[in-house]
Amino acid sequence: MVHEAMTDARSFQAWKPRVDEAAAFVRTRSRTQPGLAVVLGSGLGALADAVERDATIPYREIPHFPVSTAAGHAGNLVLGMLEGKPVVVMQGRVHFYEGYALGQVVFPVRVMRELGAGTLLVSNAAGGLNRQWNAGDLMVIADHINFMGTNPLIGPNEEAFGARFPDMARPYDPELVRLAERVAVAERVPLRKGVYVAVSGPSYETAAELRMLARWGADAVGMSTVPEVIAARQMGMRVLGFSAITDMATGEVVESVTHEAVLAVARELEPRFVRLVRRIIREMTL
Ligand code: HPA
Repeated sequence: MVHEAMTDARSFQAWKPRVDEAAAFVRTRSRTQPGLAVVLGSGLGALADAVERDATIPYREIPHFPVSTAAGHAGNLVLGMLEGKPVVVMQGRVHFYEGYALGQVVFPVRVMRELGAGTLLVSNAAGGLNRQWNAGDLMVIADHINFMGTNPLIGPNEEAFGARFPDMARPYDPELVRLAERVAVAERVPLRKGVYVAVSGPSYETAAELRMLARWGADAVGMSTVPEVIAARQMGMRVLGFSAITDMATGEVVESVTHEAVLAVARELEPRFVRLVRRIIREMTL
């Protein structure tokens, strides 16, 4: 039993060759050389409709790609132009709670990096912990807390992706956060800024857990994003993240949260999210 971890490390299969294979496959379907990678979270897939498409590739066709099982996640890789920028968009993602190892969860981000994307824009649906906020708010992520209990970089380090101990002092690019805030003012889209805490799920939090997370300094709680951001930062990508606050997770609400309610609120704020993000992408330098 003591040797279990060692055995796992010895039987470890490198991700890099699989990333290269997946990227090579995508290149057979699309000539787009993306500078920006976008991950669209629960109920936020509509941004993909704004892409002048060069290719739409179902995840299941891409070698080694994980396939999403959660409702509200389409499961397509979309390539093309968005606001004059070459982009690769994940319409739907996979989560740790679906049973995937985090290496699989971050696989698509590594492929998008291999395709050329130097910037990652991630989004998610999240519960609001900050008592000043409301369901339907949009938040730009200033920082995160990894409370998933694991990390996508656990295991033998693959130098091709980056350092063994990557810095996480400023995972969310301060310049991009400032750009988001400036565009939000210009577009008159109210925008919160705060700390996202990632939990494993799939059960929602108890009232005691929510009180704890709020006291830790988190403003929003969700079940995604942090693994992708950690992997992206190891690879040197600039990151910008958004949370759609789909429910107030303060532990005091009478009604309990349901996945359907989360998706309904995400769809309601989707047009605002799309408007904000399109203009940010237009004004971004890649
Ligand atoms: N908790 C965790 N994840 C979530 C929530 C929540 O309240 N809302 C949307 N995703």
